[in-house]
Amino acid sequence: MLRVVVLVSGGGTNLQAIVDAVEKGEITHTEIVGVISNNKNAYALERAKKHGIPARCVSPKEFESRAQFNKALLEAVDGYTPDLVVLAGFLVVIPPEMIEKYQNRMINIHPSLIPSFCGTGYYGLKVHEAALERGVKVTGATVHFVDEGTDTGPILLQKAVEIRQGDTPEVLQRRVMEQAEWQILPRAIDLIANGKVTVSGGKTKMTE
Ligand code: GAR
Repeated sequence: MLRVVVLVSGGGTNLQAIVDAVEKGEITHTEIVGVISNNKNAYALERAKKHGIPARCVSPKEFESRAQFNKALLEAVDGYTPDLVVLAGFLVVIPPEMIEKYQNRMINIHPSLIPSFCGTGYYGLKVHEAALERGVKVTGATVHFVDEGTDTGPILLQKAVEIRQGDTPEVLQRRVMEQAEWQILPRAIDLIANGKVTVSGGKTKMTE
């Protein structure tokens, strides 16, 4: 069983997609052992509780310094002894110690086709605003392993989504979630759980 911890900050629709996929058997050999939010009001925490998944908040507001928060976050993650850490809309800069410890064992979902519209400052709705502002006709989502850069790690899965005339950032965000994020994030976890992914030289390789 792959022990998975999911880190969240907000609504938690990606968390929901993972939970549903595990319950339906679309993700196999996987147990979601914990959910951690940096925001105590995140609806994602409620979603976890409804499914009987241990959930807790570790907020930077509870600590005097960033270093103390970083230590507490890493301890909280370690406490679940995960095989895989999934960043599902987690809008916190990951502590360097955590990146090192979970190298090739931590993935992130980003709402664009990396390397477009990614890096510092590109998160949530801002990504979709930037895509519409640039006038691209296709966008999408990417699941990647987390390295020391922002959205620079080895790419695992991507899925393209068409942009339509008259799209607002909110409409586009919803379409990217439905058509890409909620599909590729569960699939990525299933691939990892079934030993089908290897990482080498900054790239991933899929075996059947
Ligand atoms: C998702 O669109 C996710 O891709 C994005 O935040 C949203 C969280 O929604 N993540 C980033 O922008 C990371 N750079 P959710 O809480 O409903 O899953």
